[in-house]
Amino acid sequence: MRLSIFFVPMLLLQYLTASVATKTLKNLTTDQSALLAFKAHVVDYRSALANNWSMSSPICNWIGISCGLPHQRVTALNHLDMGLGGTIPSHLGNLLFLMSLDLALNNFHGHLAHELGQLRRLRFISFTFNKLSGSIPTWIDVLSKLRILSLCNNSLTGLIPNSLFNLSKLEMLDAMFNVIDGSIPSGIRNLSNLFNLNLGYNNLQVRPSYLYLNSVGVFLFCLSIILVMPPQCNYNTFA
Ligand SMILES: *[C@@H]1O[C@H](CO)[C@@H](O)[C@H](O)[C@H]1NC(C)=O
Ligand SMILES: *[C@@H]1O[C@H](CO)[C@@H](O)[C@H](O)[C@H]1NC(C)=O
Ligand SMILES: *[C@@H]1O[C@H](CO)[C@@H](O)[C@H](O)[C@H]1NC(C)=O
Ligand SMILES: *[C@@H]1O[C@H](CO)[C@@H](O)[C@H](O)[C@H]1NC(C)=O
Ligand SMILES: *[C@@H]1O[C@H](CO)[C@@H](O)[C@H](O)[C@H]1NC(C)=O
Repeated sequence: MRLSIFFVPMLLLQYLTASVATKTLKNLTTDQSALLAFKAHVVDYRSALANNWSMSSPICNWIGISCGLPHQRVTALNHLDMGLGGTIPSHLGNLLFLMSLDLALNNFHGHLAHELGQLRRLRFISFTFNKLSGSIPTWIDVLSKLRILSLCNNSLTGLIPNSLFNLSKLEMLDAMFNVIDGSIPSGIRNLSNLFNLNLGYNNLQVRPSYLYLNSVGVFLFCLSIILVMPPQCNYNTFA
């Protein structure tokens, strides 16, 4: 039967299309439920998400959300400076394709949920201008692709964890205006890509021995803490 020559591939194509569609849907559903849980959990003082993050439009059109090819998964939560508050929902840990998490300029408090350690693709984190407490988490080293970590102006305490120095791709660490104490561990020299380190305005003990060369160039570590840094937080966005 001649027809079958066409018919079989057609069926196969239909089957494949259907299964791809189902998977896409499933993938999107995972991200959608994570975002809906985020929405339900946060305090949305200005009702910024209330109407926009609506089931009637695709999540990739929601405010603050970017999706990436090829699978249209959520890759960034950016520009969500909308006066959100509460604790940072652990549900974010399900956005497995997230590369940028920018929750700067909100009112989030509490500790950084360890579920965020599931986000192994993260390159950019900013929690600048929030009210986070606790210390920089020791699990931070699982985020091995992290390049920028901005924690400026929160209420972080405790010591700088040694695990931070396993983040070999780290280019910028901004933790100014917190209550971090102890000294700056010498392991920081292992971060050969680090070119921007702001740790001023904490309770750190600074020894004048932190002037050294790394692969990027002269690293005026001590000076950048005490003298050079303007007393304000940087804003970076993920490109
Ligand atoms: C949500 O906000 C985005 C960005 O401002 C806008 O493009 C979109 O139309 C809004 N969606 C709804 C349903 O209001
Ligand atoms: C769904 O996501 C998985 C990874 O979690 C990926 O391997 C798969 O190709 C995606 N499917 C589609 C159709 O986007
Ligand atoms: C830190 O943030 C608070 C608001 O959360 C603000 O009032 C204060 O001026 C900020 N401090 C600096 C040094 O930027
Ligand atoms: C860095 O990673 C290595 C290997 O994964 C591990 O043995 C070491 O303890 C880690 N160092 C720190 C400071 O976490
Ligand atoms: C820094 O690197 C040196 C040499 O590779 C290694 O011996 C040391 O354990 C590292 N320190 C940290 C804190 O990772």
